[in-house]
Amino acid sequence: MKIETILSPAELSALARRDLGQTACVVFDILRATSTFVTALHRGAKEVIPVSEISEALDFKKAESGKRKAENILLAGERDGVKIRAAQTGGVDFDLGNSPREFTRERVSGKTIVATTTNGTRALRACAHAKLVLPGAFLNLRATAEFVRRVNPEALLLVCSGTFEEVSYEDVLGAGALCDLLWKDCADGPLSDSALMARQIFQLAQGNLLEAASQSHNARRLRSRPELKDDVAFCLQRDVFDFTAVLNSEGKIVIA
Ligand code: MLT
Repeated sequence: MKIETILSPAELSALARRDLGQTACVVFDILRATSTFVTALHRGAKEVIPVSEISEALDFKKAESGKRKAENILLAGERDGVKIRAAQTGGVDFDLGNSPREFTRERVSGKTIVATTTNGTRALRACAHAKLVLPGAFLNLRATAEFVRRVNPEALLLVCSGTFEEVSYEDVLGAGALCDLLWKDCADGPLSDSALMARQIFQLAQGNLLEAASQSHNARRLRSRPELKDDVAFCLQRDVFDFTAVLNSEGKIVIA
């Protein structure tokens, strides 16, 4: 298996032109989109549908509301880290933001969640033509590594969602941690410098992952808001969930 890492979201637009037919992508938005989506599934959500734009989320809910009860579809996401409000949508307050701690069993069990975030949902959509797309998180990293090992794809692409157009340290830590778990499995394949770099960055930080990730731009932004500061420690927990999430061919994130 060849392993490669996309470190910066500036590289995402090139993915559309790339043949990913034999490639498994693991998409990392550690703070917080992909961590939140796996948490939603753990708490019993039926599925999470990642969309790029606020308007797509609103259109989806409108179209589906004719077919099933509107209260079973929750709108979730953030802009600038905070829940999307009526002023940004032309009158509709979103039900949830992008804090994994908001996605309690009481709120999400059995629900379809349509989510739009600044970087994470776009990165997931950018990989949708790959053979396999897995949202990556520290919360279920070992289960994800085992799943990739079982599938044994020809190529593994670790996609760091970043923040706006910039690299995010915590996403590189997530990608590096997965490289580390799969390193032996990749020993015979071609080794990319991007994977080597991500793994080395993770290895330098692994002694105190939370402290390292807390220095990142995203963590500092979350920690400056009292209601969001605990998201950082939540998302940096390792292997608290024992399942893999997958973006299926219908564009829905479900338990694999
Ligand atoms: C994103 O998708 O850009 C994020 O997850 C941002 C956030 O939650 O603050």
